[in-house]
Amino acid sequence: MSVYKGLLITKNQELLNDHIQQLISEESIDITVIAEWKRTFHEQQFFHYIFVDIDTIDFPHQQQASSGSILIALTENHEFDLARSWLVAGAKDVIVLPKEASRFKHLISRTREQYQFQKETEHGIGTGEVHAFYSAKGGSGKTLLSAIAAQSLSIHHESKVILIDLNAQFGNIDVIFGVQPFRSYYDLIPVMGEMDIRHIQNVSTIHQETKVTLLTGPANPAKSENLPDELIGKMIRVARNHFDYVILDLPSAMNNMTFTGLNDATHIHYIITPDSLGMRAYQYTEDLFERFQIGRGKDLSLIINRYHAKSELTKKDIEKIVNKESKGKFSADYFAIQPFINMGQSFYKKKKDKGNTKVSKEMKKYIDELKKG
Ligand SMILES: Nc1ncnc2c1ncn2[C@@H]1O[C@H](COP(=O)(O)OP(=O)(O)OP(=O)(O)O)[C@@H](O)[C@H]1O
Ligand SMILES: [Mg+2]
Repeated sequence: MSVYKGLLITKNQELLNDHIQQLISEESIDITVIAEWKRTFHEQQFFHYIFVDIDTIDFPHQQQASSGSILIALTENHEFDLARSWLVAGAKDVIVLPKEASRFKHLISRTREQYQFQKETEHGIGTGEVHAFYSAKGGSGKTLLSAIAAQSLSIHHESKVILIDLNAQFGNIDVIFGVQPFRSYYDLIPVMGEMDIRHIQNVSTIHQETKVTLLTGPANPAKSENLPDELIGKMIRVARNHFDYVILDLPSAMNNMTFTGLNDATHIHYIITPDSLGMRAYQYTEDLFERFQIGRGKDLSLIINRYHAKSELTKKDIEKIVNKESKGKFSADYFAIQPFINMGQSFYKKKKDKGNTKVSKEMKKYIDELKKG
């Protein structure tokens, strides 16, 4: 039985006969073929997949990523510019046939997961907590700790987790997960007014090993300057309706994105390093939070990162100086951690796995505590 409906748009009947027919029937997709884009067509009926033969069908100017269908471009030639413009217009991928038949299959099975996931979350199972990892001091471990926290929530607690990299440029989440996302939240700008979970899924990547959904920034200075102010807030709101946890990796600089992230967070994890610079940054942040009324009425947990026996300040010193108890302590563990990052490996493999590094063990404990509330 075919559960999925597909629309194939092509003027080339042979394409259908030669390659597509078999591929699609193996994936049990019910296919309808038309020779022209017709707006009304997918307004009347919902298609899970829209396959466009981009060799015979022109670029549709009206057709943005705005319909909930997954758009897949098919071609027999490898023409980079054409492929690119389709990707920008919202195609999930461009497949060169018949060469990339196996990539086609892989793409279909990946998107299946996406639909499965939508079904599970449609009824608002997600509790939608928003956890921001922040520190006014750069390099203190925001990216690393937010990534390991996301992995622990997903693997140990089987929660639905999205990790959003709000460093509009070069946030490095992709490096830690060993993925190369082609798209970013920059691509959500055209659908900002009508954004729903499918748009977010179309521009994000599900990390296979951990099932964490990753949404990254444009990694392009010109583009990151052009992100509209409302984009981030919208994105967080839509995401929290569908995920149990929205994890934010924030930049240290207090820009609009940082501000929105902190403001929309239900829980802030402030990372402090056990040295005077770390202290100074925290005290500065406390003032700032006070002035802008950030963090009011929400949980703010202080966590110490890069702790070691010879730290300039002990846990007690820190708590005394800032007059606040710390909720977690993460060891400086450079040599154990670096290989994981270099290889893009996940820190946990399965539910019972506490991880092989001090930091991953400490994170599991931290998240277990957090879940207990
Ligand atoms: N507890 C730790 N033990 C060992 N290495 C760590 C630890 N925490 C972070 N690091 C390493 O320190 C470097 C900086 O960490 P990370 O990128 O997570 O910081 P950040 O706060 O996100 O930095 P930025 O302000 O540049 O975004 C990375 O190479 C990371 O692997
Ligand atoms: Mg970072």
